[in-house]
This record gives sequence, structure tokens and C-alpha cells, in this order.
Amino acid sequence: MNKVSIVGAGPGAIDLLTLRAVERIKSAEVLIWTDSLISPEIINLAPKNCLRIKTSSLTLEKILEILVTESKKGNQVVRLHDGDPCLYGAISEQICGLAEAGIDVDVVPGISAYQATASSLKKELTIPGLVQTIVLTRTSGRTGMPEKENLENLASLQATLCLYLSARHVEEAQEILLRHYLPETPVAIGHRVSWKDEWLQVIELKDMSRISRNKEFIRTTLYIISPALSKTKQRSKLYSPTHQHLFRPH
Ligand SMILES: C[S@@+](CC[C@H](N)C(=O)[O-])C[C@H]1O[C@@H](n2cnc3c(N)ncnc32)[C@H](O)[C@@H]1O
Repeated sequence: MNKVSIVGAGPGAIDLLTLRAVERIKSAEVLIWTDSLISPEIINLAPKNCLRIKTSSLTLEKILEILVTESKKGNQVVRLHDGDPCLYGAISEQICGLAEAGIDVDVVPGISAYQATASSLKKELTIPGLVQTIVLTRTSGRTGMPEKENLENLASLQATLCLYLSARHVEEAQEILLRHYLPETPVAIGHRVSWKDEWLQVIELKDMSRISRNKEFIRTTLYIISPALSKTKQRSKLYSPTHQHLFRPH
């Protein structure tokens, strides 16, 4: 019985896969993937005779049944998730279900949507003296949020805030954010970042919901609200001539 590989497929572009992810996909005998969020180009890396199963219409029970059955047959099973599997990937319930069946996993990290968005924008999200914390979160939606993590509390940090899974609730999010960030705070709206039809712009917080609605973004949209996206020039201590450390004593 082989381990089931849980593999991060990155934000979309095939060349944002890790070498380890490519290796796992190329050796898959059974590939099971989130079809709405992973490009066919990536799926095509799997061998021709690999059994391919899409998960969009499947329940957890059915997914687990496939993972367990195929793994017990001795097949190399690869479960592909978009971005990094540790973020909103619902992998925990799969890992627990597999453990109950006596099956181990290996997890391969992927590039998350917020990293792809920052690099497309050519931006650092942690500017010294301005912002040093990144919050990865979502609006409540059907999943709900633990009370202490509500957006109001997180926004009060005024950190770099990456909002996943939130396009359907963008008006409500904007209203809450405006209570803590200035209306002119830069917001990156990234839709299908790194895909061929990527749409990515930095706008002001006060325009976030209007622009998002005008573009009819519902899915695969990430918002990064951050003072770090402004054009202010800052410099770090790390490379300052006055800052000494182990590798640059004088
Ligand atoms: C189920 S979550 C999975 C997140 C994923 N594990 C990650 O690390 O990026 C799906 C959400 O991630 C964001 N997302 C994923 N891929 C994206 C992309 N290429 N462009 C913009 N947002 C993306 C969107 O907020 C989308 O609603």
C-alpha cells in the first residue's frame, strides 16, 4: 500500500508548480483533482493511462472511498489541490479519513494565490516601518468564522490582509475594512492570477466592491488590502550600512 500524495498545484500557471509536484503528478496512477481550480495543462502532465477523477461533484465520503480503494490496490494515488494544500484545502478531513483506513500521506507544498499575486505585482508585502504582518483570511460565508477571527478584529491590525473566498461578500467586507483602513488604502484585486486570462489591478479600498461587482468576479478572486502596495519608498535595516550583523560586522 502506497502513501497518498496530497500535492499543491499552485495558482494556475504550469511553471509555478514545484519540481516535487511535477514528479508526483508524472508518476501518478490515479489522479484526483479540484477541476474548477486546476488547469488542464497541469493535468496533462500525468501519464496517458492514469485514471483521472474530478472532485467538483463528489462528497468527502466518495473522495475518501476512491483514495482508500485505489491506494489499497497498490496504485500511486495523487490528490491535487490548487495553491498550497494547507490553505482552505480541506485536507485535514482527508488525512484523518486516510489515517483511519491505515493509509499515510505525503504533502507537497504549492505556491498560494497571495504569493502569486504579490509577485505578479512585483511587490513586497512586508515593508519595514510600514507593515510587518500578513493575515491570510476569508469572509464568513457559509463556512462561518470563529468569533475572535471576525474581519472586524483582523482589520483592526491594519496589517497586509489577504482575503480569500470573499468575492460574494465584497460589499460587506469593504464596509468593515473602511472602519479600520483609510479609503485610499491600496487593494489588489486578482482574478485567476497566473492563468492566461489573469485580471489584476491595484485600486483604492473605497472602490473595491464596485470594481469587483462590475467585473462580475465571484470565484477565483483574491483581495490584498495593504499599505505596502502604495508607492512609498522605504528601506530595511538589513542592508543598511549602519546595521551590523554576523555576516557583515563592519
Ligand atoms: C478553496 S481556496 C484555495 C486556496 C489555495 N489553497 C491557495 O493556497 O491559494 C480558493 C480561493 O483561493 C483564491 N485563489 C486560488 N487561486 C487563485 C488565483 N489563481 N487567482 C486569484 N485567487 C485565487 C480565491 O480566493 C479562491 O476563492
